[in-house]
Amino acid sequence: MATNRTFTMIKPDAVAEGNSGAIIKIIEEAGFRIVAIKKTLLTPERAGEFYAVHAERPFYADLCGYMSSGPIIPMILEKENAVADFRALIGATDPSKAAEGTIRKQFAKSVQANAIHGSDSDENAAIEGFFFFAGVEQF
Ligand code: TYD
Repeated sequence: MATNRTFTMIKPDAVAEGNSGAIIKIIEEAGFRIVAIKKTLLTPERAGEFYAVHAERPFYADLCGYMSSGPIIPMILEKENAVADFRALIGATDPSKAAEGTIRKQFAKSVQANAIHGSDSDENAAIEGFFFFAGVEQF
């Protein structure tokens, strides 16, 4: 299996509650190498751009408000089979349906405030990584 990259961000709820260190520890212990990391704040417009695929969904406006409500920690991660393995590590979108031991099961508050993002394809991982990080910031 090829080494590849995925993109994640620790969302405002988890950052605000001081869970980012615990979440990063789980990610590194699961074998992901951090390629890029920072703490930043999205404007509602930038959040809307990131989630543009959901623009027609009823939860879109709320989601953009929530994602710009406080700092986030975006990261690019590297591992064999990174996208699928990371989706398994974070668990289902709805924390009440997330498997035991997953990050969302442990830290998510609701479907919206679900602690962490994980890209759903190699193509989106690359697009999302470059949404936050220049090439020279990716090691
Ligand atoms: P989605 O891409 O379906 O989930 P995932 O993050 O697991 O890939 O949805 C993107 C985000 O939109 C999700 O993490 C939280 C938010 N969301 C809601 O606020 N309400 C909803 O009903 C859904 C499906 C998602």
